[in-house]
Amino acid sequence: MIPHSKIILDEEDIAVVARVLRSGHLAQGDYVLSLEEKAASFIEADHAVAVSSGTAALHLSLLSLGIGDGSEVIIPSYVCTALLNAIHYVRANPVLVDIEPGTYNIKVENIRKVINDKTKAIIVPHMFGLPADIESIVSIGIPVIEDCAHSVGARLNGKYTGSFGLLSIFSFYATKMLGAGEGGMVLSNDLDLIETIRDLRDYDEKNNYIVRYNYAMTDIQAALCERQLNKLPSFIERRKEIAGIYNNNLERTGASLPAVSDERGHIYYRYVMRLGNPLKFMEEMRKRGIECRRPVFKPLHRYLKLAGYPMTDNVWEKAVSIPIYPALTEEDSHLIVDSINKILS
Ligand SMILES: Cc1ncc(COP(=O)(O)O)c(C=O)c1O
Repeated sequence: MIPHSKIILDEEDIAVVARVLRSGHLAQGDYVLSLEEKAASFIEADHAVAVSSGTAALHLSLLSLGIGDGSEVIIPSYVCTALLNAIHYVRANPVLVDIEPGTYNIKVENIRKVINDKTKAIIVPHMFGLPADIESIVSIGIPVIEDCAHSVGARLNGKYTGSFGLLSIFSFYATKMLGAGEGGMVLSNDLDLIETIRDLRDYDEKNNYIVRYNYAMTDIQAALCERQLNKLPSFIERRKEIAGIYNNNLERTGASLPAVSDERGHIYYRYVMRLGNPLKFMEEMRKRGIECRRPVFKPLHRYLKLAGYPMTDNVWEKAVSIPIYPALTEEDSHLIVDSINKILS
């Protein structure tokens, strides 16, 4: 079976983790500090705080902005439930907006329509590795949390995603661009926000008592994550090569392929196509030994039983994500192309 996602690990990755284990210091320590420095310098942000997951990064970002009861936070409907959870952790109200069908990203005009006095933040995911229109969204003037769970290494107008928002968050879940099993990060140029987040991340040996969290990353995760960060340019190169094979060979299938543009560098965290009947397509691909997935399991407005998200519905009903990752062989990518062409012909 060709899996939908697969991590790529080499002997040095294993050696680096073994080094941490041999050191006897497994919890948050020097490797976490080193990862924070490397990540901040890579994205060109002033400060970074490593945490235990992308969800923890979102939660602490919202807390650092003082978002709580009665606040509204704008997010797209077409995204995973992690965003909804983080907003509910702080008892704020999620305000869902519809997406741009071509890019799968949150649509700026839809954001403007729902802003009011209670709006305290906008969370902007760069979906599937294609940067959102983040500059226009930041210019609205509401605090923006850039969600780079899919987009670490993607650039827009010469800058990395993660360097536009007041805060930006990352996920290092096993299947992400950088996979450390679990893990996350918050980046910002705002030292006050970062100090709050650093304080809330762990609870021990503090002079005062406030509710804090156990959201620290381990040195094991950090060591693996830093190795992956060093290899990120080559990972992205390989993803683009595979996307090139797909773009060139799937044109005639009639399916909608990912949007391509010079200013918004797609890093192809996911290769998402839209076609008539994704469930039947996924079944046919499975019969041929290829695992495909719905790129978003269910849009948030469907969980919340809300209506009025036609673009999200349309995309959700048609979208399918096919395997794309550095560990995918040339042979497998051609097998995938041949299978899709046969199924859709
Ligand atoms: C866009 C987006 N943001 C945040 C998260 C949450 O990350 P984590 O699973 O590390 O909590 C995810 C997870 O898949 C995601 O896709």
